[in-house]
Amino acid sequence: QFKAVIFDLDGVITDTARYHYLAWKRLAEAQGVHFDEAFNEHLKGIDRMGSLELILASATRSYTDAEKLALATEKNEHYKELIATMTPADLLPGAVEALDAARAAGLKIGLASVSRNAFEVLDRLGITGKFDYVVDAGTIARGKPDPEIFLKAARELGVAPGDCFGVEDAVAGVASIKAAGMYAIGVGDPRVLAQADIVIPDLAAFPLN
Ligand code: G6P
Ligand code: MG
Repeated sequence: QFKAVIFDLDGVITDTARYHYLAWKRLAEAQGVHFDEAFNEHLKGIDRMGSLELILASATRSYTDAEKLALATEKNEHYKELIATMTPADLLPGAVEALDAARAAGLKIGLASVSRNAFEVLDRLGITGKFDYVVDAGTIARGKPDPEIFLKAARELGVAPGDCFGVEDAVAGVASIKAAGMYAIGVGDPRVLAQADIVIPDLAAFPLN
């Protein structure tokens, strides 16, 4: 019997994956790097500097650390403009129902996002109070696909990893859940999220709803 559920945020609870995509696309193209949905798929769940490194690996020149920091800051400022307009209307279908169903089932509820903007997004969506524990991305040394973030969430919730399930839209995120020894629910395309134990199209199909 599961005792906790740990959700990813971007692309699962709200469509901020779209905003990350738009912000990275503008940055990449300004550096002469072709950027499309297929490339973006590899960036989902990857932290800010890691994503930037993947994009700049396709550039024609090398960048200093100072240039990289400036580019990452520029991307984040664009992203912050995009999320500034978010309201509870930006919750994806089934998201609140899934959180409430997990609560009704007696599960502990965690959030494992490597986004340093996660607290702000949760506040704008009005759902901060629905979580027992939200991992602070600033405290995580190794991003997804490393299991660290899901293991930290389980530890703080006081639940053994094997008694948790994770919910993720990213290939790297599903890999992180599986490496943590948890059951993985993928949200999206089953061909992309082949490592997940089950895949649902969106949270409207969350098994506890
Ligand atoms: C999530 C998203 C990634 C994003 C990362 C860092 O994992 O899926 O696309 O790069 O968070 O977000 P941040 O808001 O800290 O730049
Ligand atoms: Mg995600």
